[in-house]
Amino acid sequence: MVPAIGLPAQDREAPVESREWGPRRAPPMTLPGTGWCTTRVKGTFGMTTQQSTATSDPAATGTGETLTVADNRTGLSYEVPITDGTIRAMDLRQIKVGDDDFGLMTYDPAFMNTASCRSEITFLDGDRGILRYRGYPIEQLAEHSSFVEVAYLLVFGELPTQAQLDSWTEEIKGHTFVHENVKKFMEGFRYDAHPMGMLQASVGALSTFYPEAKDIADEEIRHRQIVRLIGKMPTLGAWAFRHTTGRPYVYPKKELSYAGNFLSMLFAMSIVGYEADPRIERALDILLILHADHEQNCSTSAVRSVGSSQVDPYSAVAAGVSALYGPLHGGANEAVLRMLNRIGTTENIPDFIEGVKAGKERLMGFGHRVYKNFDPRATIIKKACDDVFEVTGVNPKLAIAVELEKIALADDYFVSRKLYPNVDFYSGLIYEALGMPVEMFPVLFAIGRTPGWVAQWREMITDKEQKISRPRQVYIGPDERDYVPMAKR
Ligand code: CMC
Repeated sequence: MVPAIGLPAQDREAPVESREWGPRRAPPMTLPGTGWCTTRVKGTFGMTTQQSTATSDPAATGTGETLTVADNRTGLSYEVPITDGTIRAMDLRQIKVGDDDFGLMTYDPAFMNTASCRSEITFLDGDRGILRYRGYPIEQLAEHSSFVEVAYLLVFGELPTQAQLDSWTEEIKGHTFVHENVKKFMEGFRYDAHPMGMLQASVGALSTFYPEAKDIADEEIRHRQIVRLIGKMPTLGAWAFRHTTGRPYVYPKKELSYAGNFLSMLFAMSIVGYEADPRIERALDILLILHADHEQNCSTSAVRSVGSSQVDPYSAVAAGVSALYGPLHGGANEAVLRMLNRIGTTENIPDFIEGVKAGKERLMGFGHRVYKNFDPRATIIKKACDDVFEVTGVNPKLAIAVELEKIALADDYFVSRKLYPNVDFYSGLIYEALGMPVEMFPVLFAIGRTPGWVAQWREMITDKEQKISRPRQVYIGPDERDYVPMAKR
């Protein structure tokens, strides 16, 4: 059943088809000593010479805000509309030195300052430590919601009614089983295969079981694959773990919660009954909520980019898993654990901190590209740590982590660089307390991130402005040259 709540394509903002703006030639003037012809715009670049702008219809921008760009190569100036604090990179294409010129591009390696989409899903303000899913603060969701409810919120944009939540939960539970053949190819992996590699391969392989998934234009089919992905990821992740530990695969149990079922598939032995402690179950649920989406991060961008080719969502999500596999993305919590192991005792912390300040290494789990005040997820995780350790007993590394945080937050090196604990500083300690080997950490991250990936994929598919993702490049290789025969090289 497709829930009534959603984001119908027709309700979205229409794409900006064309704009009536462009260059106007102003009488060029020669700057003394440079020989350049240019027309400068008053004030814009801190210069006061001559105003000559080509003004488009400001009403076309909606806000009337514009940016004036002066091209000192041609003496032309351009007025570019500003919408939501952005200019459209394609608008710059009009800026040319001649008719055969391709037009101006922006160069932005790593997309440090380029928005690739307009999204209604996640809001993140790194300076103020704010993270909201569909407008709801992460703190409130972690306190009051469940992962399954958050998944609904991310995908459909609104919190469900009780009836909608019940039906959504049933749908997901109904799709936790995988085809028996999945078991067979899982068995084909080497005994020591990395669970993240197994997850990546097996989620991609699901596309071969559901050929209908190719029909991405059909909302009902899209919906079914979204439910399948959220339902089956824990099964694939847990079975990857069972494979590496040589234990029989445990089938999903409908009567358990999402987190409880995952824990059962991980830890139940076939003979002895397994029941997860509710505090552990809740802590895991919170961890999944905290990881559910983080706007256009590396793996989500991968899902969107691969999905923009209109491939099925299993293949797109497999790309997301691949991106998350990398140590700069999903692997930092593992690095934190290795670091804490190396430090060993609290007495060694001052020496370690001196080494970090001398640039010998990084304090893993500290710092973030976006959060420059605090990572709201870290604060919540710290609290979840207490709940888990109440059950499992305190992880001895916790004392080192707490002391490390205290010392770092009082040290000008970290304060002046705005380095605070991030989500990974404490999450590894919880995962370890739950009995997970470090290789499983990114798998847990991937299961948590799946609703975000599919919500972003769905939004991208129904966004009329989106096309196949295809960045430009600045070619800096050799000019045309003739093939050199082998004997002459
Ligand atoms: N320990 C020590 N110094 C650091 C650290 C750190 N963890 N992070 C940044 N710095 C210093 C860095 O040396 C630089 O100093 P200076 O200005 O003297 O050269 C300054 O702070 C700015 O660093 P940057 O590398 O330009 O910052 P960035 O925004 O590019 O990097 C980061 C962000 C997360 C990659 C980085 O802080 C880092 O490597 N942290 C440790 C790894 C980690 O915990 N990653 C998990 C991120 S959270 C998971 C997620 O959301 O995906």
